[in-house]
Amino acid sequence: MNESLKLAAARRALDFVEDGMKLGLGTGSSAEAFLELLAEKIRSGLKITGAATSERTEEKARAMGIPLGDLDRLAPLDLTIDGTDEADRELNLIKGGGGALLREKIVAASSRRMIVTADSSKLVDRLGRFPLPVEVSRFGHLTTARRIAESAARLGYSHMQPTLRTIADTPFSTDSGNLIYDCAFVAIADAPALATSLSGVPGVVEHGLFIGVATSLVIAGADGVNVIEA
Ligand code: A5P
Repeated sequence: MNESLKLAAARRALDFVEDGMKLGLGTGSSAEAFLELLAEKIRSGLKITGAATSERTEEKARAMGIPLGDLDRLAPLDLTIDGTDEADRELNLIKGGGGALLREKIVAASSRRMIVTADSSKLVDRLGRFPLPVEVSRFGHLTTARRIAESAARLGYSHMQPTLRTIADTPFSTDSGNLIYDCAFVAIADAPALATSLSGVPGVVEHGLFIGVATSLVIAGADGVNVIEA
């Protein structure tokens, strides 16, 4: 997503922010474009309190002078603004490309509304081209990965083999100290059914399918910025 599209989507999302709101602050480059605009508004007098979805976002928000609070003290939040890796027209999402899916889902679930900003390339007819991130406990993660593959095969995705996410040959560690397996489904026929199945695998901490969580999708493209409501 190019910088100007990110900013255009973030600017539209900012229209939904009102004085005094408690905001969930997403993770990733789209969410960071929103943080920049939000910080400008705060410098001009807007009062909000944010709950960060990752250590990276917490660090960035603090550096920009955005007031932060603890989710448990702030919940329920008024609104969460976050990016996505894919979205369909029913506003189902694949998130977690940045590895923050667990906290992103906890924060979004603690919010009355969730606005997702994206460029039009992320709007898809069917989820799954982007490999689905699945966060798993380190303990027994190889057997958990096998069970993820087996449960996927039972739903007809027998081609899917979970891939442990690594950075420079070292397993990627989430903010909660867990591992991520990226699962290339290619085309997900029934996202709610897959979400239920993955949630039932012992060792899976959370998966990146956000079903029925987002309430608005702000899509920036060559034809301008469009808002799709749930
Ligand atoms: C972070 O874990 C993700 O869910 C991000 O929200 C997602 O990867 C979108 O990131 P970009 O805005 O950087 O594309």
